[in-house]
Amino acid sequence: MKCTKNYRLGYTDKAKEIVSSLTLEEKISLMSGTTSLEQELKYIQEDPDNKHYNYIPYPAGGIKRVGLPPMLFCDGPRGVVCGAAKTTCFPVPMLRGASFDNELEEKIGHAIGKEIRAFGGNLFGGVCINLPYNPGWGRSQETYGEESFHLGQMGSALVRGVQKEDVIACVKHYAFNQMENSRFKVSVECDKRTEREVYLAHFKDCIEAGAASVMSSYNLYKGTHCGHNDYLLNEVLKKEWDFDGFVMSDFYWGVKDTVEAANGGQNIEMAHTLYFGDKLLQAVKNGLVSEEKIDDSALRIVRTLLAFTNAQEKDVDTSVLACKEHISLALESARKGITLLQNQEQVLPLNKKMKKLLVLGSLAESKSTGDHGSSWVRPPYVISPIQGIKMVAPEVDIIYDSGDDTERAKQLAKEADAVVFVVGYDYNDEGEFVSEDEAEGYTGSMGGDRKFSLGLHQNEIDLIKAVGPVNSNSIAVLIGGNMIMITEWKDYVSSIIMAYYPGMEGGKALAEILFGDVNPSGKLPFVIPYKESELPQVEWNTTSQYYDYYHGYTKLEKEGVKPLLPYGFGMSYTSFNISEAVFKIENNEVLASCRIKNTGKVEGTEIVQMYVGFKNSAIDRPIKVLRGFSRVSLMPGEEKEVTIACPVEKLSYFNEENNQMELEHMEHEVYIGTSSSNEDLIMGTINI
Ligand code: BGC
Repeated sequence: MKCTKNYRLGYTDKAKEIVSSLTLEEKISLMSGTTSLEQELKYIQEDPDNKHYNYIPYPAGGIKRVGLPPMLFCDGPRGVVCGAAKTTCFPVPMLRGASFDNELEEKIGHAIGKEIRAFGGNLFGGVCINLPYNPGWGRSQETYGEESFHLGQMGSALVRGVQKEDVIACVKHYAFNQMENSRFKVSVECDKRTEREVYLAHFKDCIEAGAASVMSSYNLYKGTHCGHNDYLLNEVLKKEWDFDGFVMSDFYWGVKDTVEAANGGQNIEMAHTLYFGDKLLQAVKNGLVSEEKIDDSALRIVRTLLAFTNAQEKDVDTSVLACKEHISLALESARKGITLLQNQEQVLPLNKKMKKLLVLGSLAESKSTGDHGSSWVRPPYVISPIQGIKMVAPEVDIIYDSGDDTERAKQLAKEADAVVFVVGYDYNDEGEFVSEDEAEGYTGSMGGDRKFSLGLHQNEIDLIKAVGPVNSNSIAVLIGGNMIMITEWKDYVSSIIMAYYPGMEGGKALAEILFGDVNPSGKLPFVIPYKESELPQVEWNTTSQYYDYYHGYTKLEKEGVKPLLPYGFGMSYTSFNISEAVFKIENNEVLASCRIKNTGKVEGTEIVQMYVGFKNSAIDRPIKVLRGFSRVSLMPGEEKEVTIACPVEKLSYFNEENNQMELEHMEHEVYIGTSSSNEDLIMGTINI
C-alpha cells in the first residue's frame, strides 16, 4: 500500500530538504489551523440552511512558496461531515462494531476517503476508538464497542480503507476521552496496566496499521492536558511506538499553553491559531522551545503531506458523493450490524401477509442518524423506520401512532396483528456536548452523557409495559449509541432488536430484518447487565475520574456476575452448531478452528469468536478476553471449517517492573464459539 509508514519514511530526505529551506516563521506556520471561530460563525450565519460546521474542509499550514499544500480536515466518523445533503451517512461505528466485519469497515473507509477527496480534502478526523468505561458516555456511538482488541481491529480497518484513497487517517481522541460533559476539565487516573492493556492498546494497533495522524484529547491524564502530554505524545506514541506521523490537537480548546504544548509533543494546533503562531515564535526566540522541536514538527507534517500528496493520482471526482455504491455499503453495514436480542415464540420474522401492523413511538418517524455534534453527516435522504417498513411490506396496513395516549395505543394494539415499538435515544439524549460557558460563546450541540440512567425514558417503559402484553406479537426496536438497559421491561414484549443509529438506509435494513428478507447477524459489542450498578460507576460532572482495570464483560466475569446478555451475543432466524474445535500454536500465532453448521431452515451468518483465558496466571488477569472473530455465512445444512488466528504477543500483559509487554509462559485457555458466555463456547488449552 502506498501510504504505509515505510512508504512515508521514503520521503524523509526530501522533507528534510524542504524543512531546511524554510524560515522559522514558515515552519511555525505549518503548525496551526487557519480558520477563525468568528469567521466560521459568520459564514454559517450567512446561509444557515446550507452551511454548517465543517461545511468545507478546515485548512492548516501549507506554504505556496515551496509548493506545499495545506492539510484539509474533514470530520466523521459516520461519513464525511462536509457539504450539504451530499455525503453518504453510514451507520454509526457502534453498529459497525456490532457487524464484527473488518473487511466491510475497510470498504467503508475507502468510500469515506473517496468522498473526502471529492471535497479536495486530504485528512479524515473520524477514526474514533475511545473505549467507553461506562455506556453512558454521550459519544459512545462514534466508537466500536467496549473491547480494546475489537476497537483495534475495527479502527485499523477504517485507517487502511481511508488511506487506501491517499487521505490521511487521524485516530482520536488520544487518550482516555470517554466522558463528554467533563471533557474539558476531567483528569483521568489509572494504573499502568490499565493504561497500556485497556486504554492504549487499540491506539497502538491503529499506529501499527499505518495511521499517519493522531488527535490528542481535551481531557487531562494524571493532571496534564493530553494535548501537552509529554508522556503520552513524546514518550509513548513517538518514541516507544515509533510513530512517524503528526499529532493535532482537538479543536479550539485542545491546546492551553504554548510552551507546554510544543514541548509536550503537539505538532498542530487545530483549527485556528491561538497558542501557536506568534506566541510560539516568541517562545522559540526566548529559548523556551527549541528550534529542534519546531523542526521535528515541520518534518512530520511535510513528510506526511509529501507522501500522501504524491500518491494522489486521480482527479477530484464529485460523482462519488453518496453514489449508489456507497449507499449500498451503508445498507449492507446496517443489515450486518443490527442485532436481535430476544425472539420469544419466534415472533420474528413477521409475515408480510399479515393485515395490520401497529408502529408506536416517535422515533419510528425520526430520521435521526446520531448526534448533532462534530460527527453530524448530512446525507441527501434518510429512511426512517416507518418509511422502511412501508417500503418492505407494501401490502400490510401500517398504522403509526406516537404512543402518547396509552389507552388509544392499547386499543390499536388489540386490533393489530403485531406491534413494533421504536424507542430509545436521539441527539438530545446523548452525543457531543459543548456548554456555552465552557465554549466561550460557541453554541454547541445538545447531547452530552446520558442523563439519568442507561435505560429507556420512563414514558417509553410505561408504554411498553401497558401495551406490550395486549398483543402477543410485540417487538421493541432500540435506537441508541450504546447499551440500553432492558431488564425492567423485556418480559413485556416478545422480541427485542438493537438498531443503534443505523444510518441513511437504516429504516430499510431494519424493516428487512423485521420481515425476514435479511437474517440478522449483528452481535453486541458490549455486555448487557441485569443491573446498571454492576458496571463501573462514573461521576459525569467531575474534575477527576479513576478508571479501574475491569469494565464491561471482563468486570462482570471477574466478579462472577452473570450478565443478562453477554458480550458478543446476537440471535439469528436460523441456528448454528459448532463442533470439532482444535487449538494450536503455529508460527507464533494462536489458532482456533472448528466446524460450524447451519442447522436451521434459512441462510444465515454467524460471527465466530475466539477468547483467551488466564486461569494459571501468577498475576491478576481477566478470566478471558476476545482475541479474534470471523463472519461465516452458511446455507441451510451447509457446514464449513473456520480458523481464527491471533499473534501470540496479543496474549501479553504489561509488566510494570520492566515497562514492557510480556508473555506468561503457561497453559492458556482458548475458547471458540458464538458469544463470550461459556455456554456458547468450546474450550481447549495451549501452552506458551
Ligand atoms: C471533537 C472532535 C472533532 C473536532 C473537529 C471536536 O469538538 O471533539 O472529535 O474531530 O471537534 O470537528
